[in-house]
Amino acid sequence: MEWILVSVFVILSSVLIIAIIFSRTSKGNELKPFSTTTPDLVRKYYDENTDKFLKVYGEIIQAFRTKDVDEYLNYTIKNARFTDGMKLLDAGCGVAGPALFFAKQLPKISIDACTISTTQAKMANEKIAVSNFKKNITVTQGDYHLVDSLYEHNSFDRVYFLESFGHSNNKKKVIEAVWEVLKPGGMIYIKDLFRREVSDEWEQVRINTICEQINSAYHYQIADLNDVLSIIRKKGYILHFVKIPEVKLSGFEQLTISNDFQNLFNIGKIESWDDYIFPIDFFEILAEKPMYNLEKEKHLYFMNK
Ligand SMILES: C[S@@+](CC[C@H](N)C(=O)[O-])C[C@H]1O[C@@H](n2cnc3c(N)ncnc32)[C@H](O)[C@@H]1O
Repeated sequence: MEWILVSVFVILSSVLIIAIIFSRTSKGNELKPFSTTTPDLVRKYYDENTDKFLKVYGEIIQAFRTKDVDEYLNYTIKNARFTDGMKLLDAGCGVAGPALFFAKQLPKISIDACTISTTQAKMANEKIAVSNFKKNITVTQGDYHLVDSLYEHNSFDRVYFLESFGHSNNKKKVIEAVWEVLKPGGMIYIKDLFRREVSDEWEQVRINTICEQINSAYHYQIADLNDVLSIIRKKGYILHFVKIPEVKLSGFEQLTISNDFQNLFNIGKIESWDDYIFPIDFFEILAEKPMYNLEKEKHLYFMNK
């Protein structure tokens, strides 16, 4: 009997030691969540589920927001540094809820709004047709990985992604395509969720598992902040900031809308809170395509002031 217990103990200890060695020697990528999403699957997902999102989220399909969502959109205007008269590209525009709000606040603005979903493009066009902003907003059903073939090069002041970037299965391609359509001095703005990083390896494995559940429920591929910043910097963008969205706690919508959505439609529902670890962080990123010649004048950041 005793030898059975000893053997079990030895086997379990060996498994534990091997697992620890493996996780310590694993390179970053091996610990990262894996997802098989594609633009085509995302399109089908939103074609089938947009009505559900609208019922719970309203026309602004974003999880991180304020209770009065207009407050959050005004915050976006400020932080993405939109000013009246600019030419914007809304990459992943939903049903054009944010674009309509921005046009109302900045009446001389021009927005090209792009969504992968046929259903959303149709709804967005219907909403715009009965608004006062027909001249401001043009909707395209298309894939934001291909903005460089959909839109004129060097033409946009801002290209922005409001909780849409994480659907991409090729973030390098998106960031490089955006570069082509931005004017020199134009900026990419991304607000999204990113995989949390912790020092405890077991906790990280748990975080990765939960991220993977979110990825498959929402056809997402939650981004790794370090990877995204590296792509942005390698391309030659000037990184203006990466920061958490800052809203007053009293005005913050405590992600209850997202929970309601999960419970109501059984999409991404959290079955047990027992070993739940909050798996993501929200960040905003603002980066600029420089006005100067990258090869000759690498240091001229001050020119952007
Ligand atoms: C969570 S919704 C956010 C919608 C909108 N930004 C808002 O705030 O209401 C994600 C959006 O990203 C769009 N999207 C995802 N992948 C895309 C792609 N490859 N090309 C264009 N749009 C995409 C979806 O169609 C959807 O409109």
